[in-house]
Amino acid sequence: MILPINETTIRLAVEALEEGLCIGLPTETVYGLAGDGLNPLAVARIFEAKNRPAFDPLILHVASDYDLLKIVSSVPLVAQELIKKYWPGPLTLILPKNDCVPDLVTSGLPSVAVRCPDHAVAQQVLALFGKPLAAPSANLFGRLSPTSAAAVDEELHDRIAMTLDGGACRMGLESTIVDVSTKPVRVLRLGALSLEALQDICGELEVITQSMIVSPGMLDHHYAPQTPLYLCEIMEHGLELKPQGSRLLFFTKKGDWAGDFSLCENGDLKEAAANLFSRLRELDQAGASMILAEYVPDEGLGRAINDRLKKASTGTASWNGLSWDLKARL
Ligand code: TXA
Ligand code: MG
Repeated sequence: MILPINETTIRLAVEALEEGLCIGLPTETVYGLAGDGLNPLAVARIFEAKNRPAFDPLILHVASDYDLLKIVSSVPLVAQELIKKYWPGPLTLILPKNDCVPDLVTSGLPSVAVRCPDHAVAQQVLALFGKPLAAPSANLFGRLSPTSAAAVDEELHDRIAMTLDGGACRMGLESTIVDVSTKPVRVLRLGALSLEALQDICGELEVITQSMIVSPGMLDHHYAPQTPLYLCEIMEHGLELKPQGSRLLFFTKKGDWAGDFSLCENGDLKEAAANLFSRLRELDQAGASMILAEYVPDEGLGRAINDRLKKASTGTASWNGLSWDLKARL
């Protein structure tokens, strides 16, 4: 549903966001598929709506007067200067995240991408909502980024609460992404803010080439548990006979096995996605010798969860009725 912009529709949009739903939101670069950036379930809905086969870290969008220190632990000097000059605008900064930012937003990375969009509608929604909005481009996985409300509606109309019609995007190209934690500063994605504009403030830049940023989800700094994790088919047997010192990660809760973990209570893939990264972290801190995780159903969000589990795993495991057979992946 495409809605024209007025006080009532802005309020409706904010109410939808407060309920954890997603909306199509205009920005100056491209339309975003926006949801409550501090609510893991809302973030899981974004991935579900996009039909992504993997999780990718998302950008948190903030209002012009938002206190960044609510979501990041520090803002380096060079970032402060960039913000002063180019926010609101098509510049995304990678900054060290605070605990309140869900792991699902950052794919478990210790940093979070933040930007302040230069679009009146986005700013009105952000101001009224009062919290950051996670928003990837509002297209289905593998499709083009949308620059009009109609383009969003065409692909996502039955997957989101509404699309606010903020007209055609002024820039039509995604924001430039900059990591200010290194020297020289690294440009992770070329975008609507020029390199020259960045150089004015940062001096020398290191531009990461296209081939390296095609799938940031593959970067090795993505969170993987320190504890060896083995993936297996649905676990129904052998629970009492699990390898010594191991902990199990079930898809849905099975009985009361103390010390084992599950991704959700009863089969809800959205809940499982929302819990995935924190469960891996908890398992890692539980002092186990190994983690045995079962695949989740390979449909919808389940594909992204399985993809993440595979990336986190050191091998596969199977139960042959007598013992566990663990095969390390090469
Ligand atoms: O213009 C834009 O930036 C648009 C509008 C909607 O704001 N958004 C957008 O989001 O392009 P998306 O999700 O399509 O792209 C976000 C990019 C991804 O390539 C992701 O890997 C990168 O940001 N990213 C997010 N968090 C990161 C982090 N902590 N470190 C490195 N890269 C990160
Ligand atoms: Mg995109």
